[in-house]
Amino acid sequence: MIKKCLFPAAGYGTRFLPVTKAMPKEMLPILTKPLIQYGVEEAVEAGMDTMAIITGRGKRAIEDHFDISYELEHQIKGSSKEHLLTEIRDLIGKCTFTYTRQVEMKGLGDAILKGNALIGSEPFAVVLADDLCINQNGEGVLSQMVKLYDKYKCSIVAIMEVPKEETYKYGVIEGKEIEEGVYMISNMVEKPEPQDAPSNLAIIGRYILSDDIFEVIKDTKPGKNGELQITDALMNLAQKGMVLAYRFKGERFDCGSVDGYVEATNYLYDLEKGGK
Ligand code: UTP
Repeated sequence: MIKKCLFPAAGYGTRFLPVTKAMPKEMLPILTKPLIQYGVEEAVEAGMDTMAIITGRGKRAIEDHFDISYELEHQIKGSSKEHLLTEIRDLIGKCTFTYTRQVEMKGLGDAILKGNALIGSEPFAVVLADDLCINQNGEGVLSQMVKLYDKYKCSIVAIMEVPKEETYKYGVIEGKEIEEGVYMISNMVEKPEPQDAPSNLAIIGRYILSDDIFEVIKDTKPGKNGELQITDALMNLAQKGMVLAYRFKGERFDCGSVDGYVEATNYLYDLEKGGK
């Protein structure tokens, strides 16, 4: 059973400056909910109850969001607005939130390693909250991945097909398809130029990791941009055993970029309006 989900949320979100100067990127709203809340909801849907969040300086709003605001509750109690807090209150009631800080931004691999203290030694999920995944009328991406983990019991990365000219934005995999949409990874490259990319199958911000990843990260050298890359660590893990890539069902929006953020907002707005 996978009960814990790690949220690396220490990055600076420079593509959203100046809004991210004093506000975490993960708190950017899509309609009325912050990005990270969508991620927590996806994890809860997949059966997880412990959210381990890697924060940094200027990220306190995340902790406040997943807490009771007594003044606010008191203020709107009995009013027509009280229901607006019901969803987040219920979510808080279902989970435990734990936090630690990544003191220096040394890359996603380093952020995940910092999570070792919160995760301990058990398999866990990772969500990059700025990748918003929606599977309307179907299972969330983490739920799909947990099912696959139950079958194969190894680390899994979520992938999607991207236009070849965009491979430089992603970790890109190469592998053999062992069942529909499931690949056994033989190679992974972080942000390759299109001519160097082994495929157009790009890793997005959903992972299920076995706890041996922590030791592997410790033995992985800094890679692209001098950062400790999770892609490099996973490649090392794949060489020792098996790492799978899973082409998930659903939509993914890159809300770390302005274009993806606007697309996600429009998509969910249309869904909400259509559902009314
Ligand atoms: P990104 O590179 O997309 O996020 O990292 P960023 O650095 O915040 O954004 P830009 O590029 O400056 O606009 C992917 C995810 O990994 C986390 C980020 O918070 C984000 O969720 N991350 C990245 C860390 O927690 N620590 C790091 O050292 C690097």
